[in-house]
Amino acid sequence: MSAIYPGSFDPVTNGHIDIARRSARIMGHLIVAVLDNPHKKPLFSVSERVSLLRDVFSRDSNIEVDSFTGLLANYAQSKNIQVIIRGIRGPEDLVKETPYAVWNNQLAKGLAQSLETLYFTAKPTLAHISSSIVKEVAAYSIPSGQHDAVLAQAVPPTVHEALKVKFSK
Ligand code: PNS
Repeated sequence: MSAIYPGSFDPVTNGHIDIARRSARIMGHLIVAVLDNPHKKPLFSVSERVSLLRDVFSRDSNIEVDSFTGLLANYAQSKNIQVIIRGIRGPEDLVKETPYAVWNNQLAKGLAQSLETLYFTAKPTLAHISSSIVKEVAAYSIPSGQHDAVLAQAVPPTVHEALKVKFSK
């Protein structure tokens, strides 16, 4: 069975990678889908995010990377997929995600589809990692050459290098 793991992935972190691999192992096949959101100003363009993700998952034969615009329920229908994967780092994620799961289910029903959201709890050692904190730390620490090792624990090497390119003086 195939599932979609949607997100902004701006940029992909070690937390995302763990959720993607654990869910792909159970589902059989996973599409990591980057949202192209015209209302947000990301650090990495959609094509940069897709290419970082493709690099990260280049050896995972059960994971493919794609991008989409518009409603996730429509994208799921276009791929004939009935399962969405989301990672949960703590109670606030569950509170935030619950209405999305209900909306996606109802939107899919309107398209005569079934669409369920499965939650994967983040590994405790990775639950503190978010793309937004990674970007904040990178923005301050990379120009001053500090905290390299701490950043390296949160993101894969290719993303670490890409952050250095964005934030080097
Ligand atoms: O990584 P993020 O930013 O938490 O991911 C949020 C995402 C992309 C999963 C969510 O914003 C999304 O699916 N957006 C697509 C538009 C849509 O379908 N909105 C929800 C209808 S309820």
